[in-house]
Order: sequence, then structure tokens, then C-alpha cells
Amino acid sequence: ALHQPNGGPLLKWYDQNRRDLPWRRTSDPYAVWVSEVMLQQTQVATVIPYWERWLARFPTIQALAESDEQEALSLWQGLGYYRRCRLLLAGARWVAEHGTPTTATGWLEVPGVGPYTAGAIASIAHGDPAPVVDGNVERVYARLAGDASAGPSLHKAAWTWARRELYRPRPGDWNQALMELGATVCKPVKPDCTVCPFEGRCVARQTWRVDELPTKEAQ
Ligand code: ADE
Repeated sequence: ALHQPNGGPLLKWYDQNRRDLPWRRTSDPYAVWVSEVMLQQTQVATVIPYWERWLARFPTIQALAESDEQEALSLWQGLGYYRRCRLLLAGARWVAEHGTPTTATGWLEVPGVGPYTAGAIASIAHGDPAPVVDGNVERVYARLAGDASAGPSLHKAAWTWARRELYRPRPGDWNQALMELGATVCKPVKPDCTVCPFEGRCVARQTWRVDELPTKEAQ
């Protein structure tokens, strides 16, 4: 496994290189939820002020659940993908009525919360050993394993891998470390392989295929 012992080189790297992001100072599942929804399709630097304004105006799930959609949408203005805002509001109303889940399986029942968001909230806020796969994790996996699949088969293989490799004592940090590695080191273009904690065990690196993986889907 990649994580033996103590989370192995990835968690060592993460502990030394993690960005100090506002949502990493809280384990409030609602605050983590908002951050993960905003981070879908939007860069970290853009999200930070929106996240701070949102939490200031709607500090709790209850506060959000009682807001009207127009006010929520006006706070979201500029982030784009307004469907995310409507789903977050609908989800908050559901949670206000049914209670806050504490596992990935529980979060999946919330309307609008998919496997990525459920795994992210549950692992980060509740310490539930649930895996998470986003585009960053897919790329890290494809290169590390030298997997040339694409599209849904890559997605499926990445989830299987993430489930198997998850470092269960620190699932939230492990998942965020994989995403962070993909975002800052194992980048789509010009990855910084020389600083990668997995350099010595990356199949793509060893076979000179880093620039070819992951395989792009035929358009
Ligand atoms: N991208 C989306 N959520 C993230 C997180 N919690 N850490 C790093 N990158 C992310």
C-alpha cells in the first residue's frame, strides 16, 4: 500500500506543504460542505472570499435553510454554475428537517449531494473512512498506476484504487493530500515530478509517459 507507515510519504508531504485554507481550520460539516460545493469547477483563490461571505451571512445549516433563494443566489453571484447554489439550499433544507448525517452513506441521501461531496464531507468533517475521487485524484492515480484508460473506465478504476489505498487513521487528510498533490504537483501540464512524494514509485514517471497520462477522451 502507498500509505505505510503513518500515512507514508504522501501525508508527510501534505503535513509540510498543505495550504492554509480557511475551511481547513474547521471541522464543521456545514462549512466543509459549502467549501466542497464551491470548489467544484472553481479555483481556490476565487472561492476563499465567497466562502467567507457565505459563512458570515449563513453561519449554520438552519440559517441557510431559512433563507430565500434570491438572497442565496445573490451571494453566489460571480461564482457561476448557479445550479450548485440551488442544490446546496435544497440540501440544507433537507438536513434542517432530517438532521446532519455523519457518514458518506448518510450524506448521499441528501438531495444534490453526490459521491464526491459525500466522501469529502464525511472524511474531512467526521473522520469517516470514505474515499474521494475528483479530476485531480483521477490524474494522480492514472500516472501512479500507469493506467491508460479514459472516461468512465478511468473514473471507476480511480474509485477502486482510492477505496483500497485510503489511509484509514486520517481519511480527511489523506483525501485532501491526494487532491492537493494533483492540484499543485501532479498538474495536467508541466507536473513537478522532482518534488513528488511518489516519484520513486510512479509508473508513468518510470516509463516516460507522464505527459501522455491520463489518456484524453476522444472528443
Ligand atoms: N479540491 C476540492 N476540495 C479540496 C480539498 N478539500 N483539498 C484540496 N483540494 C480540493
